[in-house]
Amino acid sequence: MTTREDVSEANRSIFDGISAVSDYHKGFRSTGFLDAGERAALLSVADAVRGQPALDLGVGAGRTTTLLRLLTDHYDAADYAPRMVAEFHHNFPELPVRVADARDLGDYPDDVYALTLFSNNAIDAVGRAERPRVLRELARVTRPGGYLIFSTLHRGGPSYAERPLQLRRPTRRFSLRQIVIDNMRLLARPGRALRAIRSWRANRARIDDHGSWAVGPLAAHEFGLIVHFTTYEDLIDLLHSTGLSDVVVFDESGLPIAADADAAGADSFTVVARVPAA
Ligand SMILES: C[S@@+](CC[C@H](N)C(=O)[O-])C[C@H]1O[C@@H](n2cnc3c(N)ncnc32)[C@H](O)[C@@H]1O
Repeated sequence: MTTREDVSEANRSIFDGISAVSDYHKGFRSTGFLDAGERAALLSVADAVRGQPALDLGVGAGRTTTLLRLLTDHYDAADYAPRMVAEFHHNFPELPVRVADARDLGDYPDDVYALTLFSNNAIDAVGRAERPRVLRELARVTRPGGYLIFSTLHRGGPSYAERPLQLRRPTRRFSLRQIVIDNMRLLARPGRALRAIRSWRANRARIDDHGSWAVGPLAAHEFGLIVHFTTYEDLIDLLHSTGLSDVVVFDESGLPIAADADAAGADSFTVVARVPAA
């Protein structure tokens, strides 16, 4: 069993597996916004970053590539999983991509990008202690006055504390229809269902709940990933501690979350933050 400190490496090997690459290949084929929060976040910076350099970090198979290429010709992609990078290259042979880890973007010069995107809760795959380092690296490669956009899972959302073959998602209202859909999906692929049950059993002991944040298995990739879940307050603390400004947080319905709003229903938050101008 992996220790709490090395979740990032264990998660990297899941992302670098054939099954994850095939999942994100499907995501690439159905290009589009992940949710209305991502759409609102990208739209909110579109005018400011149009035609400027953009970095698409944790690009996977390239779901977000077309979205960013519509904004700019100066597009760079990166991912820490070599198989994802190979898949991206297969999908977009004409575009630059490299293997790079958000925890240490060593080769990348400072102050280059007007927009740095780390989409689809990829930041949650690093250990809690490494989250500030990731944001500092994203900010370092972004120009003063430029924007970061990333999304992150909510401790109070339906993805937290899920189980395979569950009767309902723990933080969601009871819905018979949803229970049937979720379980039929798993049962239609018995190999995946068995893998999910096996890894959930191995990983459930890793749930580490601190109330304002938690770490635990995620149903995606058959409960193989161990990820971080935040709360709105915890997220704002992280953003302030890394010196980012002009923070706007969207829920997945695309509404900005006000400081005093109840964020209880959100599954994830999409954050827009600005690197302070020099
Ligand atoms: C959930 S997938 C999202 C893929 C794609 N961006 C999308 O939205 O469909 C997360 C991606 O981020 C990558 N990733 C996770 N942690 C990373 C890190 N520390 N540095 C770079 N890439 C990372 C994974 O390999 C994976 O391809």
